[in-house]
Amino acid sequence: MNDNVDLIFFGALGDLAARKLFPALYHLQSCELLPKSVRIVALARDELDSGQFVALLKEKVRRYINPQNWSDACWEAFAERFDYLRLDFTDLESYRHMAERLSASRTSIFYMATPPSLFGPICRNLGQTNCLNGDCRIVLEKPIGHDLQSSHDVNDVVAEYFTEENIYRIDHYLGKETVQNLLVLRFANRFINTQWDQSCIDHVQITVAETVGIEGRWSYYDTVGQLRDMVQNHVMQLLCLVAMEPPNAMTAEAIRDEKVKILRALRTIDASNVTEHAVRGQYAAGWQKGEAVPGYMQEDGCENADSDTETFVAIKAHIDNWRWAGVPFYIRTGKRMPEKLTEIVIAYKSLPHNIFTAGGNITNRLVIRLQPNEGISMQMVSKLQSLKEKMGLVKQDLNLDFLGSSTMTRIPDAYERLILDVIHGDQSLFVGREEIEESWRWCDSLIRAWQVQHLEVKDYHAGSWGPAKADLLIEKDGRSWNG
Ligand code: BG6
Repeated sequence: MNDNVDLIFFGALGDLAARKLFPALYHLQSCELLPKSVRIVALARDELDSGQFVALLKEKVRRYINPQNWSDACWEAFAERFDYLRLDFTDLESYRHMAERLSASRTSIFYMATPPSLFGPICRNLGQTNCLNGDCRIVLEKPIGHDLQSSHDVNDVVAEYFTEENIYRIDHYLGKETVQNLLVLRFANRFINTQWDQSCIDHVQITVAETVGIEGRWSYYDTVGQLRDMVQNHVMQLLCLVAMEPPNAMTAEAIRDEKVKILRALRTIDASNVTEHAVRGQYAAGWQKGEAVPGYMQEDGCENADSDTETFVAIKAHIDNWRWAGVPFYIRTGKRMPEKLTEIVIAYKSLPHNIFTAGGNITNRLVIRLQPNEGISMQMVSKLQSLKEKMGLVKQDLNLDFLGSSTMTRIPDAYERLILDVIHGDQSLFVGREEIEESWRWCDSLIRAWQVQHLEVKDYHAGSWGPAKADLLIEKDGRSWNG
């Protein structure tokens, strides 16, 4: 493994870098996982020298690190890796200047923590100024495009300069510990996989709920909405990991092949079926944890008082293949929900014949909690301990608590895993081009259907679980959202 790596960050003074990327690197430094030979080149427009940059960065990064995990000595050692370069993204001279600092004996990893509109121009400029050699890698943050055509265009430009094996498309959900554990749960536990299909499973629920609202990014978010921001990428990845066939190896290629098959098997939602399959909502003012919070239209930066952008989506999806025929996947994701919760529920079918007539027909549920309280619990049916009732039944949980059962004191952030994997050249937790494009194909059809049918957003109060229609979506099938 070649750890002689230069991590080169475009957008080094941006929000993502301060909130996620540099704190992740700091944590890797602190647990001695960042190879000594890794250098960090930070690029931004500001006129600073390396010392000034590091001082500024320290101030920003510290806000995102738990004081318990902060050490000045660790920061000092970390800061030594930095080299700051002023770079105007459009100015070829700045790139030439950067090229002088790069060495062919080291691997350059270009990390695009920039708006996606810059991916193409930056690649072209890198190409024209001798910054690239065969071993270079590029890391792309979402969103890659805002529909199939634009993602195709971005992927095409990047492919002119980097081969697919050197392109690392980040979906940070894949770096979350519990998402990786989903692969282990499914493919390292034999009994789970034998029950993982339409013969045993009634339906699947995926909930990705956030308490936050739009938080200062109104003008960006308003052009995107929850479907593009969360479903096209994070939710689709979760759905693929739940639904895919076992890959034959833990390689990027094998995993991607299986995920793509699921995306292709997703039943299209179009104008003919959209009203029964999807609900869109927008939060109005409400209450969260006893505090009044504004509605989407009252958020700072609101520029369009008639905005029809959705901040909540609920979808009933179907995967048309042998394993999942007749098993609906209910998805809901939204901002300003009552709690932060990312959870997958596998709801098993009821018994074909119930001999415990006193206890009712309780079904099993496997609940995979991605955040918070990362863990897995299996709702089992067990005997009610009682002399009075002879065979009463009660629901009990078999619990796997990831943090409690490990020696770790904190669950690492997704970016720690992903940055480490880019350094080590392991693409298994990154997204392939075909996946992105298939996912856009499906989302585009849904978005078009909303437009054709003029399906406007339904209001929901901040602090609630979305519009009443989202409950109806599942309840009309005789089911309910978990909890
Ligand atoms: C990002 C979205 O990709 O994921 C944000 O753009 C969202 O809108 C965030 O808030 C959620 O990530 P996490 O890790 O907090 O669940």
